[in-house]
Formats: sequence, structure tokens, C-alpha cells
Amino acid sequence: MFTIGVLASGKGSNLQAIIDYIKEENLPIKIGVVLSDNPEAYALERAKKEGIKSLYIPPGKYKTFLEPDVEKKYVEVLKENGVELVCLAGFMRVLKKTFLKSFPQRIINIHPSLLPAFPGLEAWKQAIDYGVRFSGCTVHFVEEGVDTGPIILQAVVPVLPDDTPETLHQRIQEKEHIIYPLAIRLIAEGRVSISGRKVYIK
Ligand code: GAR
Repeated sequence: MFTIGVLASGKGSNLQAIIDYIKEENLPIKIGVVLSDNPEAYALERAKKEGIKSLYIPPGKYKTFLEPDVEKKYVEVLKENGVELVCLAGFMRVLKKTFLKSFPQRIINIHPSLLPAFPGLEAWKQAIDYGVRFSGCTVHFVEEGVDTGPIILQAVVPVLPDDTPETLHQRIQEKEHIIYPLAIRLIAEGRVSISGRKVYIK
């Protein structure tokens, strides 16, 4: 069994997509624990409903990252639960060195744009404001820069003339729900390797 941990701050539709895909495909992948920095995160409810261990760990006093002691706590809980791969699924804080060093090349993220375009917050809105014709989503390894790590998978979504940030985000999420579970499967099956910025898939 390959054990993953999921970190989520919000509604958790990506978490749900991962849960459903593992079940549908009968994969030897277990979600060891779901952690959140937000006590209201619906992701926590989703985990509970599925009988998956879930925990709210207060993030501390900073808005955009976890307090150093808290970061240690997150790592501790993930390790205690046998997590081999950390999956950020709408986790809205930047991870710092302590965390990154504890899971080298073993943290991935889903981002709602075709990176390197539109890193950071509300990428779907950035795409609309910029006027691009296509956007999409990216699964990438997490390193120190924000949304800069080696890219595993991407999916393209057209931006339609009458799109609002909401309609575009919804269409992007449909693709997220396909490529994120798939990327996790590829890593679990040992088919993904990294060389510099490039990711190879067997
Ligand atoms: C997703 O669209 C994800 O790409 C985005 O948050 C949303 C979470 O949705 N992540 C980021 O913007 C990270 N920079 P979910 O809670 O329904 O999975």
C-alpha cells in the first residue's frame, strides 16, 4: 500500500476526486491522513464521511505560511501516519524549509493555471484579467519558490468570451479532478522521475 497525506484548506473537491479515483480503480493507495489549517474546511467533513483520519492543526499567527513549530507538527503527524507522498489540494499556505526537507521530492501541488503563467492566488481570475485564450491546471512538485517546481502533468482549458472567474474556475476544476489523481497514481506506481526541471514519466 502506498500511503499519501492530503493537505487542504477549503472545499476539498480535489480530495474527493482522489478518494473516488482510488476506489473506482481499486488502487493500492491509502490516504493516511487529511490535515487542514482551517477548522471550517469541508475537506475535513469529506474525509470523515469516508472514514479517513482528519485533523485540523491551527496554523499559528502568520497568514501565508505555518509557524515553524506548527510546521514541525504537520510533519510529525504525516510521518506518524506513514505518509510517503504529501498532496497539497487547495492548501493555501506556502511550505517552508523544515517541511520541504522532511519530504524531498515527495510533495506535490495542483495549481489552477498553466504554469509558469499566473502563479499565486486566484489564477483563474488572473487568466481572465490578462485576456488569455487558454488556461488550465498544473500538477507540480513543490520546492521553495511559489508554484515553481518541476511540472508533472498539465491540462488545457479554453477561456470563453463570456467566462466569469467562477465559470472558468469550474471548468478548470473538472480537469484538476482528472489530472491530480492520475499524477498521484503515476508516482505511486514508481513511474515518475525528476532530472533538473524535467519530469519523466514511464
Ligand atoms: C483548486 O482549484 C486548486 O487548484 C487551487 O485551490 C482550489 C481548491 O479547490 N489551489 C491554489 O490556488 C493553490 N495556489 P478544492 O478545495 O475544491 O480542491
